[in-house]
Amino acid sequence: MKKNVKTKLKQDLVTRDLRCLWHPYTQHKTAAPPIAIAKGRGAILYDEQKKAYIDAIASWWQNLHGHSHPYLAKAIYKQAQQLEHVIFANFTHAPAVELAERILNYMPANINRIFYTDNGSTSVEVGIKIAIQYFYNQNVIKKRFVAFKNSYHGDTFAAMAVASPSIFNLPFGEFLFQVEFIDAPILGKEGETVQQFAQIIEKYDDIAGFIFEPLVQGAAGMQMHSAAGLDKLVAMAKNAQIICIADEIMTAFYRTGKFLATDYLENKPDIICLSKGLTSGMLPLGITACANFLYEGFLSDERAKAFFHGHSCTANPLSTRLAAASLDLLEKKSCRQKIVKIAQAQHQFITKISRLENVQNARALGVIAAFEWKMPTNADNQIINWGAKIYQFFIRRGVILRPLGNTIYILPPYCIRKRELEKIYKTIIKFLSKTRLNNSEKSGDLYF
Ligand SMILES: Cc1ncc(COP(=O)(O)O)c(C=O)c1O
Repeated sequence: MKKNVKTKLKQDLVTRDLRCLWHPYTQHKTAAPPIAIAKGRGAILYDEQKKAYIDAIASWWQNLHGHSHPYLAKAIYKQAQQLEHVIFANFTHAPAVELAERILNYMPANINRIFYTDNGSTSVEVGIKIAIQYFYNQNVIKKRFVAFKNSYHGDTFAAMAVASPSIFNLPFGEFLFQVEFIDAPILGKEGETVQQFAQIIEKYDDIAGFIFEPLVQGAAGMQMHSAAGLDKLVAMAKNAQIICIADEIMTAFYRTGKFLATDYLENKPDIICLSKGLTSGMLPLGITACANFLYEGFLSDERAKAFFHGHSCTANPLSTRLAAASLDLLEKKSCRQKIVKIAQAQHQFITKISRLENVQNARALGVIAAFEWKMPTNADNQIINWGAKIYQFFIRRGVILRPLGNTIYILPPYCIRKRELEKIYKTIIKFLSKTRLNNSEKSGDLYF
């Protein structure tokens, strides 16, 4: 009897959720019910029935050090007892200043101002607004941006505008500003992108900014491009007085092997957007780090030339203190060694699977590994439907992977254990052997 009551309570959470909640990126008519997560430890999440799931995607690419890390939890708790929040216009506080100082140590020499926001989208939004207003303050109207095809920069309006048309922004197309899209500088095809960019620079004199996800386009399916090619584009943009915005929201904090993906470039962006790993995903926070010439472009005796942008929770002391604590962990030798080990394991796995007949374009950079799964010929060719199906295959086996269409990728937290990483690899191998192309006379659904 007691057990029944308990089970009912557990079921109730999902039932109650389905009655009152609206989840992100979810088609509620067809989606499976959500999994109620009760606890997180290290790279493992536990549902209410205590089933364990390996978080192979670092909970939307955020988590660096593992779930509910005691050092991070303690940092928030201690800060909450001291100062939980204060308005950040006309006031300041130690966590905000200290974090800015520490983050600037990791930035290229030309970047020396930190503007705080609440998440990735708003850090991009701020970068775009700063670029536009920088020119506006000089009575110059520049209203065009250049971005990569298949780019994704977030879900607020300016962030949506600079993203390639896709299901993320299609309904809002009429309301988005003018953007010229060029191919990302894929290795071996950099010349074509350089040519496209040169033509755009030649054609338009109203380009305010060039925004890019450096080296890896995450939402496009972890598509990787050439550092040398990107370096050339940044040089061209700077030469044409176009403000370069590096969206490092997914790539920063050693995801690509270096602290910033733009650390692979000689030419440095004017604006760098950070979020996700900044707090290891424990609390929301965003940073728009800017070159001094941009900051100076807002200095004036006219108040109207100030940057009139802020959020109620700007520079929240809990989030900024937490981000500093996350840096403490990241700076530990053991963490850096772990990053190297994960990167090696990912590269080995990619080499191993790259020869399989149903694997295409297997690639790895830093701790990110990805490949395209070649679908059986008679499978439902709606790639968009396959992501959800592949997801279910892994979830049933206790691995959280969130394929982007038929792209399967692994982006684990740095605390992941060897045996956990091996389980992810084994489960992927199982998936690949169950879905071999020579099984294609069967319907795709049967494989699962
Ligand atoms: C490159 C990039 N930019 C921006 C965003 C948006 O960040 P947020 O979801 O925190 O708004 C994301 C999120 O995945 C991203 O990958």
